[in-house]
Amino acid sequence: MSKTVLVSGGAGYIGSHVTVELSQAGYEVVVADNLSNCDLTCLEGVRKILGHPVTFKEMDFCTVKAVEDLFDSFRFDAVIHFAAFKAVGESVSEPLKYYRNNLESFINVVEASRKRGCAVLFSSSATVYGEVDNPPVTEKNDRQSATSPYGNTKQMCEDILRDSAAAYEGLSGIALRYFNPIGAHPSALIGELPRGVPNNLLPYVTQTAAGIRDCLSIFGDDYPTPDGTCLRDYIDVVDLAKAHVCAVGRMLGGKMESAYEIFNIGTGRPVSVLELVKTFEEATGVKVNCRIAPRRPGDVTAIWADPSLAVEKLGWKAERPLVETLRSAWQWQQYVSRK
Ligand code: WQD
Repeated sequence: MSKTVLVSGGAGYIGSHVTVELSQAGYEVVVADNLSNCDLTCLEGVRKILGHPVTFKEMDFCTVKAVEDLFDSFRFDAVIHFAAFKAVGESVSEPLKYYRNNLESFINVVEASRKRGCAVLFSSSATVYGEVDNPPVTEKNDRQSATSPYGNTKQMCEDILRDSAAAYEGLSGIALRYFNPIGAHPSALIGELPRGVPNNLLPYVTQTAAGIRDCLSIFGDDYPTPDGTCLRDYIDVVDLAKAHVCAVGRMLGGKMESAYEIFNIGTGRPVSVLELVKTFEEATGVKVNCRIAPRRPGDVTAIWADPSLAVEKLGWKAERPLVETLRSAWQWQQYVSRK
């Protein structure tokens, strides 16, 4: 009897990739999403990749009754929670919108899960580490106070899961701290669909390469790094999705060593902004028009993961070469530009 996993926010970028990998690993997947930050493009792509539709429920996780009804309609063995607002800048201008949505939805999911023996996997972020003095970061690194309400909701949700797993018998949870997810499925049928002007680097690069944006602004080349631009750990979205399958397997396979565990999900390899742009141009043969602009407030100079705990305990490691990831992002951009 295959296990059933709920993917909340599963119509989105990372959720749709996780849905594909879970299904291909033999899990029954139910996707629930309120479509507030995406349309059905990615779910349509998931259907094409899998050759069959996945069960989809349009609903809002801030509505207690909707969450309880959903959990009563299926017997979930695990839930992966992506449903949250995630625009850092918007969270600064509309903090209450972020605290209400991101915290209420997660509390409802944890409450429904603990009452039914459903394991909880939380989509966290390396943003909880803030500015680190000497990367790479391990899970033992202290979290810094968040630099945005968005980042604060990630820390608060980690604490909600940690404290609930400690208090409620039978509840277990894992938080995966993603570094910088990038790229698209090799089929080019699912990928990132930022609404409006992209905040993140790679979507801005691909939209500039596609002529949708005139010029990529590189936010600062005077950082204390080898080429003066910021260093990040860019993790391929398919590799990231596979980490979720490994984490679900750990939770449902009785392999957890405590009720709550945290794992960094990154490549362990720092890449600069300039290096990413150059590698994109080499991978695609497309020139990216760019200029050096002032630093962006809130950017950390350098952060990358020490992923050894995930390698050891999840049996997972990033495998996709950066050049392939960048090529997939470009193929996806060309696909969506044609739609
Ligand atoms: C990466 C680098 C920019 C755009 C954010 C969130 C984090 C997580 C991942 C959700 C930085 C530079 C960017 C551009 C640029 N999201 N850049 N020109 O800021 O590391 O992390 O996304 O969990 O929470 O904070 O990612 O892609 O925005 O920036 O030069 O047009 O690219 O300055 O150095 P970031 P990013």
